[in-house]
Amino acid sequence: MDFQLTEEQLMIRQAARDFAQSELLPGVIERDEHQKFPAEQIKKMGELGFLGIMVDPKYGGAGMDTISYALAMEEISKVDASASVVMSVNNSLVCWGLEKFGNEEQKQKYLTRLATGEIIGAFCLSEPEAGSDATHQRTTAVDKGDHYLLNGTKNWITNGSNASVYLVMAQTHPEKGHHGINCLIVEKGMEGFTVGPKENKLGIRGSDTHSLMFQDVKVPKENRVGEDGFGFSFAMQTLSGGRIGIAAQALGIASGALELATKYSKERQAFGKPISHHQAIAFKLADMATNIDAARFLVLHAAWLKDQHKNFDKEGAMAKLFASQVAMDATVEAVQIHGGYGYVKDYHVERLMRDAKITQIYEGTSEVQKIVISRAVLKG
Ligand code: CAA
Repeated sequence: MDFQLTEEQLMIRQAARDFAQSELLPGVIERDEHQKFPAEQIKKMGELGFLGIMVDPKYGGAGMDTISYALAMEEISKVDASASVVMSVNNSLVCWGLEKFGNEEQKQKYLTRLATGEIIGAFCLSEPEAGSDATHQRTTAVDKGDHYLLNGTKNWITNGSNASVYLVMAQTHPEKGHHGINCLIVEKGMEGFTVGPKENKLGIRGSDTHSLMFQDVKVPKENRVGEDGFGFSFAMQTLSGGRIGIAAQALGIASGALELATKYSKERQAFGKPISHHQAIAFKLADMATNIDAARFLVLHAAWLKDQHKNFDKEGAMAKLFASQVAMDATVEAVQIHGGYGYVKDYHVERLMRDAKITQIYEGTSEVQKIVISRAVLKG
């Protein structure tokens, strides 16, 4: 693995950093407070290529590698994890899945618009009774010849109301278990498809999370991604890459907290000197910085493996497991370093602390990552 970033990678990192400061920072507190989706900002992110970073330019993408994607995710997440989850789902779960497994017509019809951010997508696997236990899908897609009849409910769907295209996993052949699951492309506006109320969340409050209801939705056969029964494998492979994006998000939240805590500790005076001159604070900063660097190496290693077309399932899970714990620890410490100011919204760190928690839950809980890692370790 080359530890030197390329010109292109440095460039996208700087572009994401600049965008986060100029376009996301103003208004981030208000969007969090009022659960306001960053629609305008997401549109601009699409124009800058952040919503289809890894997609081939022939389908409207930026044609960059996974390392570039992780670097951009870190920078956006330092400032606004609500915007970065939209970016992550669109890039890793929707665009990557369609580019890798969709057919040419599906790519022309959907991917080109998703990669440019003209529309955004959602990934729909979780159900009221199938979260970590994703093989037990209750949503059904009954084969009716030229279409599937889709029935069921999906939960916790990021981009739930703002997406135009939804990748929905559903069971077609219950007797085959997870080998009977299909991934269907569902469009907003299809008859029988309704979006439930917005969830009132602890963190990433600017993103829109909804339940989705499907009642006798007729989905044309040509909207199935891959062969009959490929849906679970589609979901697992797509999520595996998604974990690198969420690990990078967690890393960004942690490094954002460190930047704020460092700045504050140099300005804030106590007992006659800046608090950074007290070891109680300096040692916290040292621990945060060390853990953040370790997380960054795990994230970039997993991204590098993916770019080399090597298996990265274990490394992606390790990156997510570790970076999300680092995000929790670093944000809690950042609040502590800020004292009372850390507990109010103006100083940003309380939001980072609330946002950090979701990185241990979505795209597989920390316990799911340990299942993936331990199985790989035991397999040898
Ligand atoms: N690539 C390809 N295939 C894979 C795979 C991978 N990375 N991981 C598993 N599979 C295959 C297995 O090979 C197996 O296939 P066979 O039966 O043919 O051998 C099949 O999938 C089932 O695998 P397991 O037997 O390992 O299944 P399991 O029931 O023991 O569970 C699990 C495995 C890792 C826990 C999995 O269910 C899982 O990842 N659950 C978490 C789901 C998740 O992350 N949900 C998040 C929702 S999406 C989200 O949050 C998006 C958002 O909006 C932000």
